[in-house]
Amino acid sequence: MVKKPRPLVELVATGRYLPERILTNQDLERMVDTSDEWIRERTGIRERRIAGPDEGAAFMGAEAARRAMAKAGVEPGEVDILVVSTATPDRWLPSTACDIQALIGASNAMAFDISAACPGWLFGLSVAEGYIAAGRGEIALVVATEKMSAIIDWEDRATCVLFGDGAGAGVLRRTSGDRGILSSHHKSDGTLANLLYRPAGGALVPMTHEVLDRKDHFVKMAGREVFKNAVRSMAEGADLALSRAGLTGADIDLLVPHQANLRIIDATAKYAGIPQEKVYVNVDRYGNMSSASIPVALDEALERKVVGPGSLVLAVAFGAGFTWSGMTLRL
Ligand code: COA
Repeated sequence: MVKKPRPLVELVATGRYLPERILTNQDLERMVDTSDEWIRERTGIRERRIAGPDEGAAFMGAEAARRAMAKAGVEPGEVDILVVSTATPDRWLPSTACDIQALIGASNAMAFDISAACPGWLFGLSVAEGYIAAGRGEIALVVATEKMSAIIDWEDRATCVLFGDGAGAGVLRRTSGDRGILSSHHKSDGTLANLLYRPAGGALVPMTHEVLDRKDHFVKMAGREVFKNAVRSMAEGADLALSRAGLTGADIDLLVPHQANLRIIDATAKYAGIPQEKVYVNVDRYGNMSSASIPVALDEALERKVVGPGSLVLAVAFGAGFTWSGMTLRL
């Protein structure tokens, strides 16, 4: 029998920020050769949020962070470590974390970005957990912020219908109680990178007129392959996170999956033995917000009292890299 793990850090509070502008499937019908019916049937998405020109990754992340800190009763100066997950940094240098640090005034924090695509917030929670567990700090702020609309080819119907913009954040604190992160499983497979990637615009193939003309700075995706890998990897994430915590799907109060596609969510829930009424879904309203999907979903679930203090949550995610994660938490 697995010894029940004792949490080292608790998730004290969460926050989210979503841009106001809504882009519906009907709007997309006027932009590319697609239909509301196709998008809903294949993905479950009805609409997504699109950030305005002044709503960059740092701005959205800072808003989500402020809301999480306010709920946690934590002052910016108390934050020891600020980890930001983003695939859409406002600029290459410095990190989005440093920009968020300046915006919120977390002047005592060590701030840095991580690049782990859709599971990035869960990767970030584990990095912060390890830092706190090692005794290097007491309070962590983990932010996920994604302006996916900036890296999408709005003429490519296979990708532009899938993504949306938004940010989520969580405050972590050392605990001696029984609430917090119970278990996690994180994995990557870089050999499959080219199934979901941006071919150019980085240091190897810098931005040139040719890159722009070829649209090689936008996201390219082999949808069917990504789908298959997502289903397999999210099942692994669920499986190992549950077993490491000595739990089964029956113990879980809420599954908070990465919100990429309703069919992937359904397959994950079925595999983990979690009934539909215990699965949080908002992909219909926001599309795939990459690493912001899970903290936004968790924040909504808490606000709507779908879960509360003491609830057991399983979070699972999959993304570019490939990268994937499973995590169990007692809220
Ligand atoms: N509207 C209408 N038709 C579309 C379309 C759109 N927006 N996008 C693609 N199609 C077409 C394709 O061109 C293809 O046509 P063809 O058969 O004539 O070539 C057909 O629909 C089927 O395309 P396919 O890619 O096989 O569809 P699918 O059932 O695999 O669904 C995805 C496509 C993208 C929804 C699905 O593959 C998926 O969700 N993949 C995972 C994506 C993901 O989650 N990525 C992020 C991971 S974090």
